[in-house]
Amino acid sequence: MNSTPPTSPFTEVSDGAFPSISKNSKDFTYHLPQKRNTTSASSHLVSPVEEPTAKFSEAFQNAYSTKVPVAGSETYLKSDLNILFATPRFYSADNLASMFHLPRTVAASEFLDEFLMGILLAPQMDFLSNSDYTLPSNKLVGQGGYSYVYSISSTASSTSSHDLSFVLKFAKSQHKSKVILQEALTLAYLQYASPSTGDSHIIPFYGLTYINKSHFRRLRSNECVPGLILPRYEMNLYNFNSTISYKLSLGGKRKLWWKLLTQMLDALKTLKGNGIIHGDIKTANILITETPILDEGNCDNFDFYLADFTSAFHISQLPTDLNTTVEYCAPELIDNSSDHVPTFETDFYAVGLCLLSFISQHEPYNELQALVSHGSSPGIGSSSIQQSQWLINVLLKKDPINLNMLRSDLFQDWKLELALLSKVLVGRLSLENFIAILENDYV
Ligand SMILES: Nc1ncnc2c1ncn2[C@@H]1O[C@H](COP(=O)(O)OP(=O)(O)O)[C@@H](O)[C@H]1O
Ligand SMILES: [Mg+2]
Repeated sequence: MNSTPPTSPFTEVSDGAFPSISKNSKDFTYHLPQKRNTTSASSHLVSPVEEPTAKFSEAFQNAYSTKVPVAGSETYLKSDLNILFATPRFYSADNLASMFHLPRTVAASEFLDEFLMGILLAPQMDFLSNSDYTLPSNKLVGQGGYSYVYSISSTASSTSSHDLSFVLKFAKSQHKSKVILQEALTLAYLQYASPSTGDSHIIPFYGLTYINKSHFRRLRSNECVPGLILPRYEMNLYNFNSTISYKLSLGGKRKLWWKLLTQMLDALKTLKGNGIIHGDIKTANILITETPILDEGNCDNFDFYLADFTSAFHISQLPTDLNTTVEYCAPELIDNSSDHVPTFETDFYAVGLCLLSFISQHEPYNELQALVSHGSSPGIGSSSIQQSQWLINVLLKKDPINLNMLRSDLFQDWKLELALLSKVLVGRLSLENFIAILENDYV
């Protein structure tokens, strides 16, 4: 029992039965859902909001314990889940019930809603019921097509706001809420099925809150959108490759490469073990906890985490609408012979390309593209259609190592690493076989 953090409102875990929520009670708390088929006595005590860092607990000590949630995010979540279940691209209710091994004997949909609310919401950090949390407009840390990522600040216990070590990744508009909810469901599922997601180098998920115009003024006055509470990391691998990497010595860089390899293999093992395909692995979606100290002997003070599960899905429910990045596609995702759905193998291939990018310090095929378009070689035009066609033709050559390692010294400096990457990118070994080779020959 002592693995429950002292400040968590989830202190009671009933044995066997799923929690019920009294709708007339104003001060109900969501109870911790049970992980089924647990082997250790305490492993069921983990929820998406349950692996908080010490800072996370501290942050809530004052803020949450004295406040009773009023008109919080649960109403919005409930309504959004219903909309989500009506749309085929996203997890269906049946699909989720079977992923989470929920019993089918009870009034299924009501029960599923309660269960999902329990693992998705973050009552400790509900922006709608606690006005201390803010998203200062100068604290944008990233954005994509569907979402903004802002640092979370708190005005609690001081007049000026101070930054917490969290970000909120929220939908840019209500239209885009489903993508965030789908991501929340995938992350909550992974954390539920594999509680130590920190060890597996998948970004921890602290729960979901809704926000409105009072938190982010670009929302419309009637809009209320969901956001994921995530730990705040320092940068992504894309930025690292372009701004930090060249400052490191070869020895230091090589140590980081091996760390990236082992941590991404851990992430892939967890994904595969739980039937989740990420679908958009690339350098911009791998986050680094701290800026590595430019001291080549030391790489213990930071880690890599796989993030951005907006394209992820469970193998039991194939997506109908795909959103991947061409440069990172394995050839079978773009040739004419297959159905173009990402697989465990295409995720592994994309990790291989990230490791190749780490060596070249360029995004896949970027250098080649620059070379061809600035030189006299024909074949690449200026329109974006011509460029995509050029890229597709290049990918179909199935020679990613030679087409990305344009400097011959890289083959000498990274001989061992490139031989390994060749097994992934050309030999197309399975994850299991690759790990076996690594353990037998390199450890
Ligand atoms: N937890 C985080 N800490 C720091 N930066 C983040 C975090 N999450 C996302 N970012 C930044 O925001 C960018 C977009 O986030 P991401 O999750 O990839 O969203 P999208 O689905 O819109 O691509 C990332 O590439 C990264 O630079
Ligand atoms: Mg992204």
